[in-house]
Amino acid sequence: MEKQLVIAIDGPAGAGKSTVARKVAEALGYLYIDTGAMYRALTLAVLRAGVPVEDAAAVTSVVERCRVDLQPGPNGNRVFLNGEEVTDEIRTLAVSNAVSQVAAIPEVRQHLVTQQRRLAGAGGVVMDGRDIGTVVLPNADLKIFLTASLDERARRRYLETRALGHDSDLEEIRRNLEERDRLDSGRAVSPLRIAEDAVVIDTTDWTVEQVVTHVLRLCRRRLKECCTE
Ligand code: DC
Repeated sequence: MEKQLVIAIDGPAGAGKSTVARKVAEALGYLYIDTGAMYRALTLAVLRAGVPVEDAAAVTSVVERCRVDLQPGPNGNRVFLNGEEVTDEIRTLAVSNAVSQVAAIPEVRQHLVTQQRRLAGAGGVVMDGRDIGTVVLPNADLKIFLTASLDERARRRYLETRALGHDSDLEEIRRNLEERDRLDSGRAVSPLRIAEDAVVIDTTDWTVEQVVTHVLRLCRRRLKECCTE
């Protein structure tokens, strides 16, 4: 049987990670895991509990009582919080504005990283996030770092949010992305950074199809190398 790769895709918000990861997983018949959705689901639980995101101890105690499950869906992962589907609710600006603070708490990360490693199992998986190639799956067979200019990322998020039927303001989205870039890259635990052995792709002027084709080419090359290793 052909080896099943472990593929890590990291990068800032709006760089196209989830679309590309989902399409690459589909093409290869692999499992797609959206780790950002897991942080978003826990953030929703924290907001619902009315706990201030600055209160790390209170956030941790909410999070420890939560179970997040992912299932393959037509447009990415379907997300469940303690058995309730929250796939759409985790994409609101309220969650987007709070998620980076929740994700910066070490206990929150520990809670999810253990689960993420278990989900990656023996391979045949494409996982996207911020720290997949650096912390969650440092031995991944292929590491991709996707990036794009802030303006282009904001434009993409704006169109995505509108397509979901949510109210959307381009300038507000741009500010949210800028602030999350700052928090995600600057936090003490598992900050967003490029793994030494990652392939960096700037997607600013690329279509989704071009990026997917390029990543699939890298996957096939990696599969060949793995066969001869
Ligand atoms: O991929 P996303 O934009 O849906 O992720 C939401 C937030 O979750 C992001 O701003 C930072 C956090 N996150 C993280 O800290 N580590 C990950 N592996 C994935 C997401």
